[in-house]
This record gives sequence, C-alpha cells and structure tokens, in this order.
Amino acid sequence: MQIGKAIQGAMNDQIHKELESAYLYLAMSAYFSGTNHPGAASWMRAQAREEVGHAMKFTDFVEDRGGSVALRALAAPPATFASPLAAFEAAAEHEAVVSASINALFELASKEKDYATQALLQWFITEQVEEEKTSRQIVDTLRLIGTNTSGLYMFDRELGRRGQAG
Ligand code: FEO
Repeated sequence: MQIGKAIQGAMNDQIHKELESAYLYLAMSAYFSGTNHPGAASWMRAQAREEVGHAMKFTDFVEDRGGSVALRALAAPPATFASPLAAFEAAAEHEAVVSASINALFELASKEKDYATQALLQWFITEQVEEEKTSRQIVDTLRLIGTNTSGLYMFDRELGRRGQAG
C-alpha cells in the first residue's frame, strides 16, 4: 500500500526534526569541545550520528512506500550553552519533544489504519524511552556533581567511553 499524503507529510516533518536533532547535538559537541570536555563532545558526536541514522530510517521508509521525500532548510542551533548541565538539560527537553512527535505520528498512523507505519514507529517508541532515560540520567548526575571539578572530569571521561563505542 502506497503511503498516504497525511502520513507522508508527517513523516517529512519527522525527517526534519531528526536532522534538526543531529544539528543540535553537533552544536553541543562543538560547545563541549571548545570548553575542554572531550568526553561529552564525543558523546554528542555519537548522538548526532544516531540522529542522522533516525532521519535515514524515515527517509528509506518513505521511499520504500513509493512516497516522496521533501527536505527543508534547517535553522541554526544555539551557538553556545550556559554550562554542561544546561546543554544536557536542553538535550533532555529536546528528546521529550521528539517523543511527543513520534507519539502523534503513531496516533495519525492508527487513525489512517497504516499498519506498516505503526510497525516502523514501534521501534522509535522504544528508542525514545532509552533516549529520554539516558539524557535524564546524565542531567541527574551533573546536578549531583554540581561545581565539583574533579567529579566533572571523571564524568566527562565516562561519557567519552560511549563516544568511542558509538
Ligand atoms: Fe531521533 Fe533522539 O530522537
């Protein structure tokens, strides 16, 4: 069954959001790199790559269903952040917005009886649980560390391990 116009439009919006996420995380990576937090910088790089992967999953799906992909201009992300905590708080808030958007897309797919889209979105719904959890955990840890510089140093190293893996 070819993709419906409403789903195709919402899917294109979602591709835009995923690429916007990649752009945001790349900006955060640059901020961390410039403030001497190489671990967080590499974590954010890995996150940006993951977001590009999400955009590709949606792109492939639209193409596989005979739809057309329409890319739009991306707005510039913030050039800097007030602190490592502020950056991760912004990331956690951003993930909550992405989850809401995926859920709305699922609702639309249910209304349209588009089962293939629902199957694709199941993966994203599970993925968002993980993404929200991870960013929330990092925010909690950074709040706990506060202004303790050696704590921040150790935590940055820990974040760097994910960057290497991803
Ligand atoms: Fe692709 Fe982090 O949502």
